[in-house]
Amino acid sequence: MGYSLSAQDIKLPDPDRTGGKPLMQALNERKSVRSYRDKELTIRQLSDLLWAANGFNRDDKRTAPTANNRQELELYVVIKNGIYFYDARNHTLKEVKKGDYRAETGVQDFVADAALNLVFVSDMDMASSRQYAYTNCGFVSQNVYLYCASEGLGSVVRGSFDKDKLGKLLNLKPNEEILLTQSVGYPD
Ligand SMILES: Cc1cc2nc3c(=O)[nH]c(=O)nc-3n(C[C@H](O)[C@H](O)[C@H](O)COP(=O)(O)O)c2cc1C
Repeated sequence: MGYSLSAQDIKLPDPDRTGGKPLMQALNERKSVRSYRDKELTIRQLSDLLWAANGFNRDDKRTAPTANNRQELELYVVIKNGIYFYDARNHTLKEVKKGDYRAETGVQDFVADAALNLVFVSDMDMASSRQYAYTNCGFVSQNVYLYCASEGLGSVVRGSFDKDKLGKLLNLKPNEEILLTQSVGYPD
């Protein structure tokens, strides 16, 4: 099933918080993938992936831990149709820019084909420290890896990207810093 992301704000369907592969099987299948088919994710997959990554699983806390509960990490979603900010509280995508900017999220050729490129952005004024900001980001990345393993999708976390160029593309403020990026898609 494809999906049309034309409205500015897209309310994602409620995530399916049950099912998926057993944890031990997902761990067994977790790996990095660097070759993708140019095929879009369904809105259901996008919803489940973002919730698994860093969504709220209780009233005020999320699937990933943060030092001192600062919750300073936000996700930007770069897909064929555009760039979106993931509003985790409302489980909604907010449009930043229309257009296909997937290739701009990295320096490796495969990023242009990956259905989704995530950009992990930390509010450094909110974070307890730089070390903890990066630590917190790692948990979210692993959540994405495990969701992908469970769903039969490929993924690779990426530290190689042009921080200044990507920051401008996302209209980031001076206190907001890109820590890592992560590609997701159907393995080729
Ligand atoms: C912090 C971090 C940065 C990484 N950056 C890149 C990257 O820029 N490009 C890439 O292709 N892989 C990148 N990787 C993926 C690693 O190369 C990969 O995890 C490692 O080779 C082990 O393979 P596996 O993930 O399949 O176990 C990165 C991994 C981590 C943890």
